[in-house]
Amino acid sequence: RFSNKHRMTNTNCTDQELLQRLQVHNQSHVLQFWEQLAPTEQQSLAQQVRSLNLPLIEKLYQARHEVSDRDNLASRISLPSAYRWGHGDARISAESARNAGQQALRAGSVGVVIVAGGQGTRLGFPHPKGQFPIGQVSGASLLQILIEKARAVSIRYNAPLPVYLMTSPATHDKTLNFVEKHQRFGLAANDLRTFCQGVMPAVDATTGQLLLAKQSTLALNPDGHGGMLAALRRHGIMDEMQHRGIKFLFYAQIDNPLVPIADPEIIGYHLLAASEATSLAIRKRDPLEKVGNFVRVDDRLEVIEYSDLPEELATMRNEDGSLKLWAGSIAVHVFNTELLERMAETETDLPFHCAQKKVPFVDSQNRLVEPTVPNAIKFERFIFDLLPIARHSIVVEAERQEVFAPVKNASGASHDSPDSVMQQMNNLYRSWLKTAGCLVKENVALEISPLYANNAEELKSRISPNMKITTDIYLS
Ligand code: UD1
Repeated sequence: RFSNKHRMTNTNCTDQELLQRLQVHNQSHVLQFWEQLAPTEQQSLAQQVRSLNLPLIEKLYQARHEVSDRDNLASRISLPSAYRWGHGDARISAESARNAGQQALRAGSVGVVIVAGGQGTRLGFPHPKGQFPIGQVSGASLLQILIEKARAVSIRYNAPLPVYLMTSPATHDKTLNFVEKHQRFGLAANDLRTFCQGVMPAVDATTGQLLLAKQSTLALNPDGHGGMLAALRRHGIMDEMQHRGIKFLFYAQIDNPLVPIADPEIIGYHLLAASEATSLAIRKRDPLEKVGNFVRVDDRLEVIEYSDLPEELATMRNEDGSLKLWAGSIAVHVFNTELLERMAETETDLPFHCAQKKVPFVDSQNRLVEPTVPNAIKFERFIFDLLPIARHSIVVEAERQEVFAPVKNASGASHDSPDSVMQQMNNLYRSWLKTAGCLVKENVALEISPLYANNAEELKSRISPNMKITTDIYLS
């Protein structure tokens, strides 16, 4: 605590103003090492403090135990009636969806946003996750694969498909250097914008006090993928999209190399159903799978994160024994840019979620403490909280093996690890090759660059049937 013991002696007006600002919110301990700091460190700390919304942080901490209205949830929830990718239904046929999506792509009215600001702690990779080499034969990184998917769509529909890549302070410089070192994986400079999301401070879970990562630095974390809205606006990207005539933004996460970037059929359902927010779902592997759950609560579509879903609801079954809450989120969405613009105006409306985490900090004796149990609260916004706000939102169901193989866990984990993802990619490419009539030897490593073929149909149109594959191969 900043007390008489830690008095600011050589203070000037600015320092006093800073101190008062903090005192009002019982946070003056942040300046406890002030006198030991070099002028540049003082400046940097002052800047961090000034950028904080202290009343908001106090309010969020006070409200940390409040849960949203979850009374009688079981009687209020229903399942969205999903469109099926590749099949369509009586409402919208797959073909008409594809045509509508293709038209939007040809008109250049689609953009892609990839969020890559997470710290990727579970994977234990010492670089931003996007740099992880997931291509089994080529060693291609997650970033390369996702960007090449966007390029492939842009080439196919002969129209620009700009990619907006969101980073955080922890991943920004490295990501930018990586992408530039690889000449943006072939994208034109004005078709790739890398922008950095904002941060929120972590607070002590029992006192609500801001934590210091070191004497002159607050413990800050990215403000969640929902921070994308404010960041798009802050970096002028909202204006840029408007200027370029981009009406639909395809949202993807960096960790999933199977994501069907800017797929015309998905965009088509979005258009023909007059949706403002469209999401891709898969059938959950088991009731407690660690994914978000699409449900309608009182007729508004929303995502309930697995950690917030009571077990008795997660395990509910239909009469035929199938899982009632089957629709798992793979965090792939299409948003109308108009919805994002509307929301950016009232940015405070996307709620913050609190999570208890282990956050290292320096104590009042300037000793670095590495907690072994969660000691802090982090505040994050989630992009999927846009769904209940949208005027109309829909879900499109896809097959897991075609669209979802996230790299989350370190090698050796039973699922969502680099090995299991490579295996899934291999299985998918094998099925495409078989569909194209190729004979593929067992146990060979297979990889297909999106620029060679982005789906089974494209592969079929360019490979000779009866081709025999007997060794590891990278079709590029
Ligand atoms: C997330 C979803 C979950 C979904 C799953 C699918 C949340 C809270 N949950 O879970 O519903 O089923 O993906 O894979 O998102 N990111 C940022 N900035 C941030 C935080 C995250 O850009 O401040 C990015 C990460 O880089 C990553 C993505 O968001 O690309 C997801 O973050 P992560 O923490 O890995 O979410 P999950 O817990 O896996």
